[in-house]
Amino acid sequence: MCGIVGYIGHRDAYPIIIKGLQRLEYRGYDSAGIVLFDGETTSLSKTKGKVEDLRNKAESSISTNGKLGLGHTRWATHGVPNDVNSHPHYSNSGDLVIIHNGIIENYESIKKALIKRGYTFHSDTDTEVLVNLIEEVKNKENVKLGKAVQIALNQVVGAYAIAVFDRNKPDEIVVAKLGSPLAIGIGENEYFIASDASPFIEFTNNAVYLEDEEMAIVRLGKEIKLRKIKDDSIAYPNILELQLNLEEIEKGGYEHFMLKEIYEQPRAILDTYRGRLLADQGIIKMAGIDQNLEKFLNANRIIIVACGTSWHAGLVAEYIFEDLARIPVEVEYASEFRYRNPVITENDVLIAISQSGETADTLAAIKLAKKRGAFVFGVCNVVGSSIARETDAGAYTHAGPEIGVASTKAFTTQITVLTLIALKLAQEKGTFSQSKYHEYLAELESIPSKVEKTLESNPIVEQISEIYKDSTNCLYLGRGYNFPVALEGALKLKEISYIHAEGYPAAEMKHGPIALIDEQMPVIVIATKKGHYEKVVSNIQEIKSRNGRIIAIVTEGDETVKELADHVIEVPETSEGLSPLLTTIPLQLLSYHIAVMRGCNVDQPRNLAKSVTVE
Ligand code: F6R
Repeated sequence: MCGIVGYIGHRDAYPIIIKGLQRLEYRGYDSAGIVLFDGETTSLSKTKGKVEDLRNKAESSISTNGKLGLGHTRWATHGVPNDVNSHPHYSNSGDLVIIHNGIIENYESIKKALIKRGYTFHSDTDTEVLVNLIEEVKNKENVKLGKAVQIALNQVVGAYAIAVFDRNKPDEIVVAKLGSPLAIGIGENEYFIASDASPFIEFTNNAVYLEDEEMAIVRLGKEIKLRKIKDDSIAYPNILELQLNLEEIEKGGYEHFMLKEIYEQPRAILDTYRGRLLADQGIIKMAGIDQNLEKFLNANRIIIVACGTSWHAGLVAEYIFEDLARIPVEVEYASEFRYRNPVITENDVLIAISQSGETADTLAAIKLAKKRGAFVFGVCNVVGSSIARETDAGAYTHAGPEIGVASTKAFTTQITVLTLIALKLAQEKGTFSQSKYHEYLAELESIPSKVEKTLESNPIVEQISEIYKDSTNCLYLGRGYNFPVALEGALKLKEISYIHAEGYPAAEMKHGPIALIDEQMPVIVIATKKGHYEKVVSNIQEIKSRNGRIIAIVTEGDETVKELADHVIEVPETSEGLSPLLTTIPLQLLSYHIAVMRGCNVDQPRNLAKSVTVE
């Protein structure tokens, strides 16, 4: 939710900031803004719309000179997306400029107090309140910018990643973080500031990720100074060498990031189990599990918390853990879990699943579970993210950067990690026969090539998409391990094509949704051979006798469903437990093609943002 970029150094800031904002646009894209300082004057340009709109506006209306600049791409929380509410925001004197990703919860009371003391406001944002508070503190206490930021932040409640500069002190930018991510790239006599490392990866591999409640003064010609916001004590920067490369964050010839990421899944799944799955030796090695094995083996139950697509991966994991390792599992929406006073004991293990590692509700659920004594394990994609740091232990998914807002490869790699954990625990607990265990490992190893094969269905999926692209409703049905896949298929369709879609366990259809079925209703049914095949075939017959249009995902060579369905999409044969890794692929492609055909912005669907750092 919102991306921030800053630069101070010897290069022109404008192209770095615009390109950086384009790379961060997945974080929010309802408005954007930039400020540049050329040593004498600041030039500000802001607009509702995308970074491309900002580029057009800035290049025709302001001077783009300056070696110091800040930029912002916004997902509105306070105030509608318009030019005025876009960031950066000036303080009343015009000396201070700020960009902010997050939310200041007590901004109204601060605003009222500032108005009483003579401050005026031009926007509806919480951010303009913050920059004026900093200015007031700076003037009243007669302190430098860094100190003023520290004092002001101790008065606010909420979440933030901010960057502020004072045009009277153009050799420094002050940054601070609580809850929202902030990375500082360190170059030769230059510094980059960004929500993630993608804006500066071609300039430097050295970066510092601020911890929560830390701030930094980034001054030209000086080393970074880190401080704790609470008590102003010194903190020491941990300078990391980044592994990210440029190809991973570019489209690489694909029309959209989503399509690229769908096609990356064979590689992503392989990267996820590489070094962990030693199928020929019958070994699964995962440091986070190996070092905490007793916690898992003695757990009364596993609680899984997540949101959205990650929650669907959690539902698949419920089947895997209970089926293989015989450990009771509860799967919770993090947003509900955190507010319903859940019963948590020291014998519970909580697994938090999150692609971004920044989702506010999931983070809050983790903090609650930790406070109540549970052992908390994270399954994240983004290395060094808040959730990865907040959990007691964890396993990365290694999917590589996921930039399309609709999650694809994160989902399949989350299932891969969770399957590895369940298999490891099953082996340790002896809940699974040795022969089945070895078969499972070998089958998991073959999944990347089977995903590759599944991707060959793309032309058929495209033809089907053409037929159903104008539908207004869609139903997705699955059973067992493929029930969560039905939910995920429906979510993918609605979020990028804006078609109303519902996922259901196929057998639930008779308890209500069957009333919706007529000749206008496409019903996507996952009907693979292993699992509850005959039962699903009966469900398909029920749909057919009510004239529903059936698109079935079937196992290669299936003839029975072919007779009944209007369209079939084949996936290679695999075990029921691993089938979600294949059945989900045609559903991703279906939503992708339908969205493209409807002219929707696939990578940046309306109203959404990639990481939801507000509750
Ligand atoms: C849907 C989607 C969202 C996320 C959800 C959780 O395609 O991407 O539903 O899955 O916002 O995000 P993470 O996994 O980053 O915690």
